[in-house]
Amino acid sequence: MHNTFAVTDDIMYIGASDRRLSRFENAYPVPYGMAYNSYLVSDEKTTLFDTCDWAVGRQFIENLQYALASKKLDNIVISHMEPDHCSTLGLVLDLYPDVKIYGTAKVATLIKQFSGRDVEASFIPVKDGDTLNTGKHTFKFVTAPMVHWPEVMCTYDEAEKLLFSADAFGTFGALSGNIFSDETDFWTEEISEVRRYYANIVGKYGNNVQMLLKKASALDISMILPLHGPVLRGDIAGYISYYDKWSTYTPESDSVVIFSASIYGGIDNTCEILASELAQRGVKNIKMYDVSALHYSYLVSEAFRSKFIVFAASTQDMGLFSSMEFLMTELKAKNLSNRTVAVIENGSWAPASGKHMKESLEQMKNITVTEPFVSIRSTPTEEICEQLKELAANIASTVNS
Ligand SMILES: Cc1cc2nc3c(=O)[nH]c(=O)nc-3n(C[C@H](O)[C@H](O)[C@H](O)COP(=O)(O)O)c2cc1C
Ligand SMILES: [Fe+2]
Ligand SMILES: [Fe+2]
Repeated sequence: MHNTFAVTDDIMYIGASDRRLSRFENAYPVPYGMAYNSYLVSDEKTTLFDTCDWAVGRQFIENLQYALASKKLDNIVISHMEPDHCSTLGLVLDLYPDVKIYGTAKVATLIKQFSGRDVEASFIPVKDGDTLNTGKHTFKFVTAPMVHWPEVMCTYDEAEKLLFSADAFGTFGALSGNIFSDETDFWTEEISEVRRYYANIVGKYGNNVQMLLKKASALDISMILPLHGPVLRGDIAGYISYYDKWSTYTPESDSVVIFSASIYGGIDNTCEILASELAQRGVKNIKMYDVSALHYSYLVSEAFRSKFIVFAASTQDMGLFSSMEFLMTELKAKNLSNRTVAVIENGSWAPASGKHMKESLEQMKNITVTEPFVSIRSTPTEEICEQLKELAANIASTVNS
């Protein structure tokens, strides 16, 4: 049965939420499900803004047919060709063969690659600033290359001052009836999943996000309609300021996050002691995580949030314990920059994890390593505890400054 929701008089939310798939893109855990958004604008001409993932394909098609009622579908605007949106595109083209497709030039090539279809006859390539008029509405296309695919574009509705933002401003998590952000505890409950989505899906492309924010700042925006999560209404400026921080790799808070990658518990014990020493020096909101226990996407998100990061790991085969090695590879891939860090290693006969962590950190931009570097043999000793006190004092003076 159809399940749609009016965004405005002319715009219908026709996407749907999935709560069955445990991971998004076969990588990121989505314990609260995932929303795949699609919007239909009914004007003199009807225009569909993006299609949906197969996971919600049946619901989406029912919604589309209901929202169109007896009208035909005139236009589809494709923000980008990623399959979490476009896997149902072929089905829509079968149902509405006369539809015109709008997208940046690369979209036609990607349609061919993903579906084998040649859409040249019905495809209208658009450039930055081009417009589409459908009657009351004039849609202006705003290209956003590499946010986070090359062909990405957003669309601004001049009539209602809305920005269809593609994956930008999206989040993990299904919708539960309330489709508007100001109908949820967005800033307290949802923001951590917004951050996890940003850091992992878009995080690498900070410079490209900055270019999009510059274009968006010239627009008067009353609502943002992303492809995942709630329609953003209310404090749009507050939302944009988070994106501004994340895309410039600016820490959001003065907190300390401790990443512990321990095989037998020596590093864990050391990190617990360090955390206590920090607390005793007035550091608040310290977070310690076992890197092997928590999915890396949560840790990447915490790295984007925090000013100070402690990397602590044991040695494995003259290298780095693999859970930490994977996390550091991800942080490099997401371009994490501008952080102050500390490094703690452990090894029983030839410790090497510290060297490997430092080498990884050297490949990231603007990372300051705080002394002392702590090197443990199996378990922390009294001497190591003294070093941890010194390290805690140095960390406290960094985060409290
Ligand atoms: C698969 C494996 C490989 C290891 N390779 C090394 C090594 O190359 N050099 C070393 O000093 N210790 C090595 N170790 C030992 C641990 O790094 C060492 O016992 C360390 O103190 C453990 O710290 P933890 O208690 O925090 O896990 C290895 C352990 C395992 C399980
Ligand atoms: Fe995407
Ligand atoms: Fe997406």
